[in-house]
Amino acid sequence: MKAYRASILYFPDPSVAQAALETDGLLVVGPDARGRQVVQALGPYAEVAPRFAGVPTEQFPGRLIAPGFVDLHIHFPQVDVIGSPAEGLLPWLENYTFPQEKRFSAQDHSAQLATFFMAELLRNGVTTALAFATSHPESVDALFAEAQKRRLRLIAGKVLMDQHAPDGVRDETQQSLADTEALIRRWHGVDRLGYAITPRFVPSCSAAQLRGAGELAAKYPDVWIQSHVAENKDEIAWVRALYPEARSYLSVYEQFGLMRPRAIYAHCIHFDDEDRALMRSTGAAAAVSPTSNLFLGSGFFDYAGADRIGFGYGLASDVGGGTSFSPFHTMLAAYYVGREGQTKPGLSLSPQHLWWQHTAGAAQALGLAGVAGNLLPGCEADFVVLNPQATALLARRSAQAASLDELLFSMIVLGDDRLVEKTVISQAGGAAGHPSEN
Ligand code: GUN
Ligand code: ZN
Repeated sequence: MKAYRASILYFPDPSVAQAALETDGLLVVGPDARGRQVVQALGPYAEVAPRFAGVPTEQFPGRLIAPGFVDLHIHFPQVDVIGSPAEGLLPWLENYTFPQEKRFSAQDHSAQLATFFMAELLRNGVTTALAFATSHPESVDALFAEAQKRRLRLIAGKVLMDQHAPDGVRDETQQSLADTEALIRRWHGVDRLGYAITPRFVPSCSAAQLRGAGELAAKYPDVWIQSHVAENKDEIAWVRALYPEARSYLSVYEQFGLMRPRAIYAHCIHFDDEDRALMRSTGAAAAVSPTSNLFLGSGFFDYAGADRIGFGYGLASDVGGGTSFSPFHTMLAAYYVGREGQTKPGLSLSPQHLWWQHTAGAAQALGLAGVAGNLLPGCEADFVVLNPQATALLARRSAQAASLDELLFSMIVLGDDRLVEKTVISQAGGAAGHPSEN
């Protein structure tokens, strides 16, 4: 067992976007019955410490311990795509993304980028991620192997794309489905790894490929599904031309059996209430990707609409359409997006709500409430140690914070990877510290 003394941020009810702060708290971590390193206790130091006398305690004076961040949608092969200028989604895919993804047919390139990608996640405090690889099965093996080494909770999949894509990234229908099933059997449930069936988006998948993906989703109900939907107007017009009889873009996924709990759809911008009701009734959830949506000019996720109908969502970087690995940048962009279409006067999204979307809320969207994204007893012990004095400006501003919301907002607005002093990952036999190299 090991204990950590600091201010500790957590979500008393993981389904509610309200945080609590233990100003002088103690977090006790130890193995559960299965040998996983989980939170054993969390509370005021004065109350918890006597119950764990003799447990070695690491002190973090002036620091804030918070749940490791959960990135609900990210592309591992798009590290070198960040910041590529394009008129919009489709030319961006054609001119920058597909050419970069082609390079992952080479094993050494996949392995090198997997190492870089995982280090970047940890440096930014991300301890759980749902990631696209490329259409090359080797890229999935490289990514999982690296995640297994670093103990990250990673869910990932081979991209399915058998049409409307260039040579070098386009796959073949039957082989792509056989590869997907082989990868599920190789990786799903190994340590903290999970598989996600990954049709890229409707235009890049034949009906046969979507049907096959839906059949695999039915055969393996605890495997995740990830895709993109309703991101961009030109993309939507393309789907309408391909499926003129479909009620909406989202309904095409439903038609092929790809809407269910553990299905995460990136963007979900251009929805109507019937789409929102379909998300709710099927238990699918949205990966809100605000830096990507602002960068590519895709539009604004409608938070009021999502809450009115009531479907699940969480935050995502969407690197490389997204511009940053930093959860602080993503939360700030979500605040800006929440301003659009704001119906009531007052704040956009509250700082606690933004933080929840990138931790406990995102974990809930993945069906991992009580496992990831929080520090309640029983949760896996993944956390970050944040330094609110990391920069001179942040030190000034955070010192004057008069409430939890003000403290969190100072970090959201002024924060980046410099704030993340340490990322600690749950590990059988002890927690592994990844000191930040900032
Ligand atoms: N739609 C299909 N592929 C992609 C992708 O790689 N990124 C984004 N943002 N949207 C997509
Ligand atoms: Zn994406």
